[in-house]
Amino acid sequence: MSDKPNTDKPWGGRFTESTDAFVEAFTASVGFDQRLYRYDIAGSRAHARMLARVGVITDAECDAILGGLERIERDIEQGSFNWSVSLEDVHMNIEARLTALIGEAGKKLHTGRSRNDQVATDLRLYLRDQIKATCEELLRLQQGLLALAEREADTIMPGFTHLQVAMPVTFGHHMLAWFENLQRDRERLVDCLKRVNVMPLGAAALAGTSFPIDRHYTAQLLGFDAPAENSLDAVSDRDFVIEFCSCAALVLVHLSRFSEELILWASAQFNFIDLPDRFCTGSSIMPQKKNPDVPELVRGKSGRVVGHLVGLLTLMKGQPLAYNKDNQEDKEPLFDTVDTLLACLRAFADMVPALQVKANEMRAAAASGYSTATDLADYLVRRGVAFRDAHEIVGTAVRLGIESGRDLSEMALTELQSLSSVIEADVFDLLTLDGSVAARDHFGGTAPRQVHAAIARARERLA
Ligand code: ARG
Repeated sequence: MSDKPNTDKPWGGRFTESTDAFVEAFTASVGFDQRLYRYDIAGSRAHARMLARVGVITDAECDAILGGLERIERDIEQGSFNWSVSLEDVHMNIEARLTALIGEAGKKLHTGRSRNDQVATDLRLYLRDQIKATCEELLRLQQGLLALAEREADTIMPGFTHLQVAMPVTFGHHMLAWFENLQRDRERLVDCLKRVNVMPLGAAALAGTSFPIDRHYTAQLLGFDAPAENSLDAVSDRDFVIEFCSCAALVLVHLSRFSEELILWASAQFNFIDLPDRFCTGSSIMPQKKNPDVPELVRGKSGRVVGHLVGLLTLMKGQPLAYNKDNQEDKEPLFDTVDTLLACLRAFADMVPALQVKANEMRAAAASGYSTATDLADYLVRRGVAFRDAHEIVGTAVRLGIESGRDLSEMALTELQSLSSVIEADVFDLLTLDGSVAARDHFGGTAPRQVHAAIARARERLA
């Protein structure tokens, strides 16, 4: 044995030449996949217990394996585990250490298993935890949005289309729009979890194993809903990673859009909100600056998550069944997606309840943009004018207002009546901002009464 090359490699038997040093580093994944150690050990524990149950290893061997794995887990957690690049990945590092610790029994752990089903299992166990953590952060952010919506249920702001003032809305209603986006994001993740929580173990390299394994038992030990139906699919499928990353990309796209609003609103030109100092930074040259770095960074970071999604789709598109080494490239984009997603959600969940809303400024902006023009048109329609004619009449009124620098509510009744004889003094109730939002009093509308009702429903949906 000793004059053979590659003696430290678990797969070294058929090799007559040592691995090239650069190739060893090039093919190794231990630098990044060691973060899967807890899941790798959990999978090995369950596999060993299953092997003992079906009589492939003895109970004593199983006990030795479990004891060794426990020691390894402790060493890794304490930072005293010696990771070796020449042992390629997290799986072989742990297995080699196990054998060094407990001898013969350690060598039996890999019976009826392959790194191909092992890595797919580790990744699914890892992702299961990350989906739960993501859902918790999403929930925290949603609760923050509800609290803010409740605080500002009556606060009037301009609603925009094309970034032009369109109609007045309530700030609470606007926050509830983001709540809905995030609710769908969370539902998507919960749904994704169903497809993640399926166990590849037992597929071995690709075709299953000749040992009498009990995959249902292993699945039960690991809390999987079921073993994967098809062994080839089990080791080659990474669409669960892609699905998660596409859910993550949507969350980040939503946070990016929300960020864009916060950045605009915090500018001197809008002046709708104040971001607390603790979420901003200053400029090294311009003493007056307070920059909205957190939303800007979230908007920026959404790009890399979208990029990872596209990278993973491209990674898969050329792969024939079953496992290919290409799949090792799934981990870094996935890990970075998880880290980025959790960090952005955390920043938002902390920041949103602390937003300071400038109600007077928002009201003034809504009042100066002819945002009640549609209300005037609706008023005319209720008095028998056809909508297209009403649109034309109000358009004329707006033009007169622009020419004379006045809002519709500042025009004289006689002036409005010269445009349409159906107009009476009660029109001014509608031309106010409060009248306009209060009138949109239906399910899903912006009236404060509806905002409170929507918040109550939202709380029930979260419960
Ligand atoms: N490090 C590998 C990966 O991440 C583990 C599986 C390797 N299997 C193999 N036959 N080379 O995909």
